[in-house]
Amino acid sequence: MYLCVCRAIREREVDAAVRAGARRPVDIFRACGKSPQCGGCVPELRKRIDKTIACEQAAEPSLLAAD
Ligand code: FES
Repeated sequence: MYLCVCRAIREREVDAAVRAGARRPVDIFRACGKSPQCGGCVPELRKRIDKTIACEQAAEPSLLAAD
């Protein structure tokens, strides 16, 4: 599913970018080699970033200690 329609950025690309260290929507665009257009996807990107981080922390609780 596309989270950013303008730039055709899919959920799995957002997840991969977050796993690589992206923490803000702008980081997602950079990781995908794209730039924002309308910005309408930013709230959904933020939700997905938070969800992916939460899933990673749940899978590896030791990551919490590193923060
Ligand atoms: S939907 Fe992402 S920039 Fe428009």
